[in-house]
Amino acid sequence: MTLPRNTPDMNAYWMPFTANRQFKADPRMFVGAKDMHYTSDDGRQVLDGTAGLWCVNAGHGRTEIADAAHRQLLTMDYAPNFQMGHSLSFDFATALAKLAPDGIDHVFFTNSGSESVDTALKIVLAYHRARGEGQRTRFIGREKGYHGVGFGGISVGGLVNNRRVFGPGLPGVDHMRHTLDIARDAFSPCQPAHGLELAEDLERAVALHGAETIAAVIIEPVQGSAGVVIPPKGYLERVREIATKHGILLIFDEVITGFGRLGTPFAAQYFNVQPDIITCAKGLTNGAVPMGAVLVGGHVHDALMTGPEATIELFHGYTYSGHPVACAAGQATLDIYAREGLLTRAAQGLADHWQKALHSLRDCPHVIDIRTIGLMGAVEMAPRAGAPGARAYEAFVHCFRAGQLVRQSGDALAFSPPLIISEAQIDELVAGVRAAIVALK
Ligand SMILES: Cc1ncc(COP(=O)(O)O)c(C=O)c1O
Repeated sequence: MTLPRNTPDMNAYWMPFTANRQFKADPRMFVGAKDMHYTSDDGRQVLDGTAGLWCVNAGHGRTEIADAAHRQLLTMDYAPNFQMGHSLSFDFATALAKLAPDGIDHVFFTNSGSESVDTALKIVLAYHRARGEGQRTRFIGREKGYHGVGFGGISVGGLVNNRRVFGPGLPGVDHMRHTLDIARDAFSPCQPAHGLELAEDLERAVALHGAETIAAVIIEPVQGSAGVVIPPKGYLERVREIATKHGILLIFDEVITGFGRLGTPFAAQYFNVQPDIITCAKGLTNGAVPMGAVLVGGHVHDALMTGPEATIELFHGYTYSGHPVACAAGQATLDIYAREGLLTRAAQGLADHWQKALHSLRDCPHVIDIRTIGLMGAVEMAPRAGAPGARAYEAFVHCFRAGQLVRQSGDALAFSPPLIISEAQIDELVAGVRAAIVALK
């Protein structure tokens, strides 16, 4: 059924990460969402190939989450978390700590991935200071890294458009090289074989700056926003080894990879590499209520629990840290994940189907690489001469008009469907992507 459009006045709203003028000239609007589908404003069903923005892991319109948030709003809409408490934030933190890798057993709540990253960076600085190593102030990020849009996050991030007009950022930040190597690794079925040596960039940073000046290295276990860049075999293990050797903390930014994306609660468990800190958000509440969290290793937390008991140990927090409605929505989300086995579903054959389906696009025109891991993936196209990103943008628009939501990232299309997707829906998504790519110039 095609509905008449009821397009709002679009002038006032400044859209994030959007070509505002292009969008407003030809808008793409959603009016509803249920399970695996959005409804567009002209009444079409659009299959969600991106879990919204990598966040709606349990699918849309989950009644249990809505009910929990509604109940909590009426029971206690808000309570301060500075020098006051409510049991929801304690209970939710305990539940999260149980999901996290052993030894990561403390939780600091934020409202987004960006805030989680900046909070993690600040916790790291405070940790070193508390241990008498206050000179450790440098952070090491990676090229192509995305760590949100705070000044800390863009400083350690490595996507040029997110950095170039915003000044020098945090002082003393350095970057390791990224690991995307299409020339050597195109169409790798999962983790690429080449690039382990790039982990040695951390040793080079140590040699250049001195280990005693470096506070932490921050890494997305799989780079999401850059177009699903999967770490080479052994790479994360080697980064961990080097960091440990030099007393550098390892932060895994799991804002995308957290909550079952790879078939384990966190990517740390998938790769069997133990970070000191994990940042997360998105799937934490199934995207229903804004919330983020920093999961902190006991050794980091405990180092700050010193001094007189009347001392505030970390002068940091947000008005909405541990918001009762977000906690209620998050707890309902974790309950769904547990009841429906969603945090491990991507490991139970579905990822194999996903991998085969996406790699079947290899024969499409323009396609130069396909990357898959867990239930995420990307199809990279050769840039059109003089118009980088144009092919992927056109394919994204084509897919939307034809009934599939995918995500453009440079010249790649990126995918991260809700973890409830069926094999038939994977096939439908991939068929839609094929049609979009075949139609490209
Ligand atoms: C790895 C990573 N870190 C941080 C963020 C920022 O999260 P938010 O947009 O909730 O601030 C994102 C968002 O996509 C992300 O992918």
